Amino acid sequence: MSSTPPGAPQATPTETSGGAPQVVPAAPPTASILIGASPGGPQTLALKRANRHGLIAGATGTGKTVTLQVLAEAFANAGVNVFAADVKGDLSGIGAAGDPPPGWAVARAAECGVTLDPKAAPVTFWDVYGELGHPVRTTVTEMGPVLMARILDASDAQEGAITIAFKIADEDGLALLDLKDLRALLTYVSEHSEEIGKKYGLVTPQSIAALQRRLLQLEMDGADHFFGEPALQLDDLLRPCPDGRGMIHLLAAERLIQSPRLYATFLLWLLSELWEELPEAGDLDKPKLVFFFDEAHLLFKDAPKQLLDRVEQVARLIRSKGVGIYFITQSPADVPEMVLSQLGNRVQHALRAYTPSDQKAVRAAAASFRAGAGVDVAKEIQEMGVGEALVSTLDEKGAPTPVARTKVRPPDSQVGPILLAARQALMKASPMSKLYDKAIDRESAYEILAKRAERIAREEEKEAERAAKEKAASSRTRSSNGGGTAKRAPAKRASTSRTTSAERVTGRVATGLFNTIARELMRGILGTPRRRR
Ligand SMILES: Nc1ncnc2c1ncn2[C@@H]1O[C@H](COP(=O)(O)OP(=O)(O)OP(=O)(O)O)[C@@H](O)[C@H]1O
Ligand SMILES: [Mg+2]
Repeated sequence: MSSTPPGAPQATPTETSGGAPQVVPAAPPTASILIGASPGGPQTLALKRANRHGLIAGATGTGKTVTLQVLAEAFANAGVNVFAADVKGDLSGIGAAGDPPPGWAVARAAECGVTLDPKAAPVTFWDVYGELGHPVRTTVTEMGPVLMARILDASDAQEGAITIAFKIADEDGLALLDLKDLRALLTYVSEHSEEIGKKYGLVTPQSIAALQRRLLQLEMDGADHFFGEPALQLDDLLRPCPDGRGMIHLLAAERLIQSPRLYATFLLWLLSELWEELPEAGDLDKPKLVFFFDEAHLLFKDAPKQLLDRVEQVARLIRSKGVGIYFITQSPADVPEMVLSQLGNRVQHALRAYTPSDQKAVRAAAASFRAGAGVDVAKEIQEMGVGEALVSTLDEKGAPTPVARTKVRPPDSQVGPILLAARQALMKASPMSKLYDKAIDRESAYEILAKRAERIAREEEKEAERAAKEKAASSRTRSSNGGGTAKRAPAKRASTSRTTSAERVTGRVATGLFNTIARELMRGILGTPRRRR
């Protein structure tokens, strides 16, 4: 598939003084990718506007994943890198040639006037669990207290405790790399809650205990694979292929999606990292990276207002860094209005309207399109066949094109999952294998705190021995003097975890102090921590 589709608007009709339409060459030619064919001509997406985000919506089985595959493939052909979550495993076929193409693809290619060129797109496979791709990791420190609290579904009091724990780690130079580091640190905070409380504000043992339980659950879900080193370097997502094509980074998310909060928060973290790290780029001819966020409703479901505001901010600001975000979900109603209003490129597959809430969703979807001549949007949304969609994109000038009922073109790569052996061969050949496949466990909070605790225990032991000797000596003196046997008070523990009842009722740190700590620790709109370089 070429980046300038056959029949794409290479020329612009214009009116002569006599009124007869005359065709003059468009300058410069539109750099666009082909989505499919509509009665009015080819429907395309202008690369220059691809950073103005997009939406692929539609009921189950209507062709969303194939549309995503077509777009990803076309972006890669145009030299644009792609990051996409592969929620059902069926997008992985993009790494294999669609050879021979299935009957429906041949028929659809003919309808769209394209010649199929069966070939594989360049793919790098990633997998949090390290099975179906190179392990993708980040550190607890990099995730930061705000997103960590979101993953752990923390209450305000618990979020306060996490923030204080991060602050202590920051001050003590304790690296928080993996979940065992965070667990060790929380234990430390709990054991020293009195001193810590005096300095930073109250942290209750109850909050810590609740967090420890959640962490345990997270570990049992396999998330311990995700936190650690070597952590994913953004440069590795942004490097193009040697042949100039864009690389498609595919995150195997079948298992990850079973932990919806981890899935959504991880993708959000990646977006915020991109936003932090990429320089301001202004208007580029094509984006640096296009990010496909499948099952996007998980990001917004039960999300607090504060987080929604942040997602909206990331979406608004990241486009000037040359990153386009495409949300994939069943109904546009799954995406909050303030985010939806920023999605300039829309591909709406069929929606079914069985229930009143379905009908409402259809009306909402229809209202979000600029009406095209002779298109009854609400009616068409319900009538379209599989692989058909209502398409409206932003033109070169940034104005939405009139909505057009479009038959989406088939991809050149394979539709459906790639064979495991082919996936493994690609993984083995990838330069990412050397960089990421082997986990490293360097000294961090867990090891440092364990050593510290050991040292303190040894000192306490020595102290106890010394005290016992003293006691024995004094009782010898006393018995020789005829004295009684006083019971020795238990050795005072290094710290206590008692809280007053007032503290228990308050159950959280002083808000002002908490906010100050949070501000000191964090950068960026998602509260990811300041980098130490
Ligand atoms: N552009 C197309 N032209 C013709 N047929 C298509 C097209 N896209 C998809 N199909 C047909 O529809 C089937 C389902 O497509 P796809 O997997 O993309 O749907 P989906 O909306 O992602 O479904 P789900 O919601 O279950 O993930 C494909 O296997 C194919 O047979
Ligand atoms: Mg799908």
